[in-house]
Amino acid sequence: MPRHVAIIMDGNGRWAKSQGKIRPFGHKAGLKSVRRAVNFAAKQGLKALTLYAFSSENWHRPTDEVSALMKLFMRALDKEVKSLHKNKVCLHIIGDISRFDSCLRDRIKNVEVLTKNNNGLQLNIAANYGGRWDIMQSMRYLAQQVQQGILQPNDLDEKLINRYMSTQSSVDLVIRTGGEYRMSNFLLWQIAYAELYFTDVLWPDFDENIFKKALDEFAQRERRFGRVSFLDKII
Ligand code: FPP
Repeated sequence: MPRHVAIIMDGNGRWAKSQGKIRPFGHKAGLKSVRRAVNFAAKQGLKALTLYAFSSENWHRPTDEVSALMKLFMRALDKEVKSLHKNKVCLHIIGDISRFDSCLRDRIKNVEVLTKNNNGLQLNIAANYGGRWDIMQSMRYLAQQVQQGILQPNDLDEKLINRYMSTQSSVDLVIRTGGEYRMSNFLLWQIAYAELYFTDVLWPDFDENIFKKALDEFAQRERRFGRVSFLDKII
């Protein structure tokens, strides 16, 4: 069983189009899949689930779509917080939230404070997130420490860089829906040894069966972390 699963939720727009509806309709349907995925992940005993909700590049979408997405986040935070807290989920928003309006930022803070000591599923929602941004902000912090003489350049190692990443746990499995085969600047540091699972299913159609299929396939994979195969060692 993977400990940390990360999902690139793609295909909301195409799903909406296939229903003859506008794109925000797809995001709304996508929220139902988020709920399903979170419940399933908690039930399966995963330690962490990271969902790519809004990338740094998504600001380039039409203004109407961006504002519909923001409203959806706000409503989701308000509506879901009670049941997340009840289910011991620890919620963390990762990404550069400085561009969000103060109302949304306050809500994010409140939810994070409320759920911070929960020991169930660690749920990371990546919002205005970019993998390169994540590495940059850790490096910037460490550069400041060096400048202030608190650290020496030689003190910087992978462990220290990892400590200041927005999420520290390595990803075991990445799932991408929507039929594309790329990482789209998602968790670049944390996926170094992740297994990848791609499906053509559009995010609003993602359900427990597909999630289970991805977990089953993960269980079949041999993870070598750069070492030789277990079977080769026997032979
Ligand atoms: C990608 O589909 C999806 C997004 C950019 C937004 C994801 C948002 C949600 C699933 C809803 C809210 C989530 C939370 C966590 C509150 P796309 O629009 O790129 O689809 P397309 O590739 O078919 O155009």
